[in-house]
Amino acid sequence: MKHKITLIPGDGIGPEVTNAALKVIEAAGIEVEWEVLNAGVEAFQKSGRYLPDELLNSIRCNHVAIKGPISTPIGEGFSSINVTLRKALNLYASFRPIKNLPGVKTRFDNVDIIVVRENTEDLYSGLEHVVVPGVVESLKIITAEASTRIARFAFEYARRKNRKKISAIHKANIMKLSDGLFLECVRNVARLYPEIQYEELIVDNACMQMVLDPTQFDVMLLENLYGDIVSDLGAGLVGGLGLVPGANLGEEWAVFEPVHGSAPKIAGKNLANPTAMMLSAVLMFQHLGETEKANRIAYAIEAVYQKGKTLTSDLGGTATTTQFAEAVVQHLVN
Ligand code: NAI
Repeated sequence: MKHKITLIPGDGIGPEVTNAALKVIEAAGIEVEWEVLNAGVEAFQKSGRYLPDELLNSIRCNHVAIKGPISTPIGEGFSSINVTLRKALNLYASFRPIKNLPGVKTRFDNVDIIVVRENTEDLYSGLEHVVVPGVVESLKIITAEASTRIARFAFEYARRKNRKKISAIHKANIMKLSDGLFLECVRNVARLYPEIQYEELIVDNACMQMVLDPTQFDVMLLENLYGDIVSDLGAGLVGGLGLVPGANLGEEWAVFEPVHGSAPKIAGKNLANPTAMMLSAVLMFQHLGETEKANRIAYAIEAVYQKGKTLTSDLGGTATTTQFAEAVVQHLVN
């Protein structure tokens, strides 16, 4: 079966890691008709829109997209395309598996955490204004609807995949109303899943616990901002941002993308680690029912790491993005 998928190369290292993933997908024998459309500065230069309607319509039509990172200006300029895209398509669940790869040396073995991050509200609502010069207000929006929906997603996932424990992460000691509401909604859902162990941790303690012993966590359930921060922390525990894939999931549409950003310092140098992008493709093809071929890609990536000869510079090696892709392709075709 030929899949029709929207492909958003992104900017910075986006096009490089995307090309590497495409080589591997082709070598795995997965047939895809790609609809290539971009967002961000490149799209603005072509169409006058940072997030063109054509791109949103393409995802609405194809239901699935894979996306490279897109830069967002800091402290000024246009709003994040990533946040806008997630909100426009109601991709309410961010799903990020953080797992050791064989052969990649880190302080901890047996890390296997699923980060489930609420993707549509919180401080990412972008509602900010100047009250008087020198005083700025930024609104944190938490709703019962979105909190319950993300909690259901996490508990359903845990039940389906036989995961044992969910840790809800919060700061309800300080933000009693907003994080308090989040917790109340999660507790209501947790009661419906008595077979799954449930715990709550304050976010600062959760970060320390992760650094001391990440193996104590199974599924972590967080609001948008905490989820963003904890994802990068988790990535650091298993070897870095070059390794961790992600999915943004809603009822109708799904956009798969690595956790990392556009890494401007190494962009265009053929240095980026394309593993996170490749593993995002694995998640996408599992979602599309191409489980066998998706798993073959995952095994090929693991085999390259197991051998330990082809490592990109983020992991202390000298291999280029292209050489890493070629090594994975060799495993797939042999
Ligand atoms: P970043 O994730 O781009 O980079 C953080 C660090 O990780 C840098 O040292 C970078 O070189 C390294 N890194 C990231 N991906 C790598 C890879 N595949 N291989 C090797 N090293 C890698 O985060 P940063 O610097 O905070 O953000 C840069 C830009 O990316 C910003 O404009 C930000 O808004 C955007 N961004 C976009 C995201 C998206 O499109 N989903 C997510 C996060 C950031």
